[in-house]
Amino acid sequence: MTFPAIAEVLDRALLEFDRALRTVAGVHQAERPSPAAGLSEADLDAAARAHSAALMRVNHVGEVCAQALYQGQALTARDAHTRASLERAAREEGDHLAWSMDRIRALGGRPSLLNPLWYAGSLALGVGAGLLGDRWNLAFLAETERQVEEHLTGHLERLSADDAPTRAVVEAMRDDEAQHRDTAVALGAAELPAAARRAMRVMARAMTTIAYRI
Ligand SMILES: [Fe+2]
Ligand SMILES: [Fe+2]
Repeated sequence: MTFPAIAEVLDRALLEFDRALRTVAGVHQAERPSPAAGLSEADLDAAARAHSAALMRVNHVGEVCAQALYQGQALTARDAHTRASLERAAREEGDHLAWSMDRIRALGGRPSLLNPLWYAGSLALGVGAGLLGDRWNLAFLAETERQVEEHLTGHLERLSADDAPTRAVVEAMRDDEAQHRDTAVALGAAELPAAARRAMRVMARAMTTIAYRI
């Protein structure tokens, strides 16, 4: 490896490490304004507020995992075009991370105490998928995005109809996730075997159940 190549790898590793620290610490800055901006807070009772906050904690955990998955992708993607195309999705995930954190705070909740764990587990999965090659890495990303999209649709059914700011954030996130999935498919994602899709669903269910509480 030449010196410029080593410097580039080191530079990327430092950037990713900085991103990891900010993700786990919950201090990510959004590039786009939150869809909740300008919407007035609903007058929710304590139970409805706690429920909204817990659902947003689940979504925030999902976004922490998305950061780790896209980082795993950035660290392992072999094709420069693939990597560059997914950078936009990764930046939008950064917005989701910040928006959901803002909603948690506005609703008087707190992020998951297990975020470092969620992050580490997802990074390992992302790097593992990346080592299988870009097609499988993209397959894993596409399926993740599809399941997150479904999951957000479920949250829209469970959130109070009055909680307009939280609903606006969830809806915008869902739109982005659909585009992220399309991007991964357009870049050549393989079709994941049904067993792998089921395993991902089981894991996601465990994660969302735990994150709703802790
Ligand atoms: Fe997201
Ligand atoms: Fe996404």
